Amino acid sequence: MNAPPYGEYAQVVIDEGIKVVETAGNSPGPVIKQLKAAGIIILHKCTTIRHAASAIKLGVDFLSIDGFECAGHVGETDITNFILLSKARQKLGVPFIASGGFADGQGLAAALALGACGINMGTRFMCTVEAPIHHNIKQAIVDADETDTELVLRRWRNTSRLFKNKVSVAAVKIEKESTTGKFEEVAPYVSGKRGREVFLNGDKDFGVWTAGQVIGLIHDIPTCNELITRIEIEAVESMDASRKLYEPIGEGGNKQGYNKLPSKL
Ligand SMILES: Cc1cc2nc3c(=O)[nH]c(=O)nc-3n(C[C@H](O)[C@H](O)[C@H](O)COP(=O)(O)O)c2cc1C
Repeated sequence: MNAPPYGEYAQVVIDEGIKVVETAGNSPGPVIKQLKAAGIIILHKCTTIRHAASAIKLGVDFLSIDGFECAGHVGETDITNFILLSKARQKLGVPFIASGGFADGQGLAAALALGACGINMGTRFMCTVEAPIHHNIKQAIVDADETDTELVLRRWRNTSRLFKNKVSVAAVKIEKESTTGKFEEVAPYVSGKRGREVFLNGDKDFGVWTAGQVIGLIHDIPTCNELITRIEIEAVESMDASRKLYEPIGEGGNKQGYNKLPSKL
């Protein structure tokens, strides 16, 4: 509703000596140019391969590929990470991390298998001891299911995935039923100001707030240390489990000695 002064923000980032920056959104060219001129490493987040390719041309160093599962701006093409990540591996010549829908080590292992160098987690970190938000909101995430998000503002091609609550449901209703199609009708419902209040007052229905489909995979509120340690263990265990496909089968097993897999894998 009120575009921030991106150039001024970027200048503060440069003045503060920040070394790595994530950019996202439409027309990142001017900000990327400004940050690159200051020697900053840029990770650009995007939801399509076309935008990723444009960002590479603009000189970004690596990419965050954000699937349709993600929290916040999902883009307009609705491609989930199963396709996006493999396409990124096939088509992009720069390293990328996977974003959207990750909460555990099995997800990390899958992202690595599809070609990513790592994962980015947004919603999962909201639900940690250290996250500076009200406990009620963390509990709302734990209680939620993967179906408890809403896609808001599609009509204006600015689609955002938000937590499903009274306000986001009302916003979607107006968006669908409005005969004028005027953004002003829905604007009071999607106010970021009220959304920020939610994190302080703990009333999940006070305004709209961002969350991804991964809420369906989040069942506890660990410390960041516990979360990362667990993710590492789960990732290694799940990769070990898939490696077993290649291992000799012991006594009483398959007579051929190995699980049969095509030799050219
Ligand atoms: C509370 C919250 C606020 C966010 N705000 C922004 C934002 O201002 N700009 C942005 O590019 N992405 C924003 N995101 C999206 C994250 O950067 C990231 O792309 C997304 O959370 C990944 O999906 P995941 O939540 O399934 O991990 C936000 C996410 C959350 C959960």
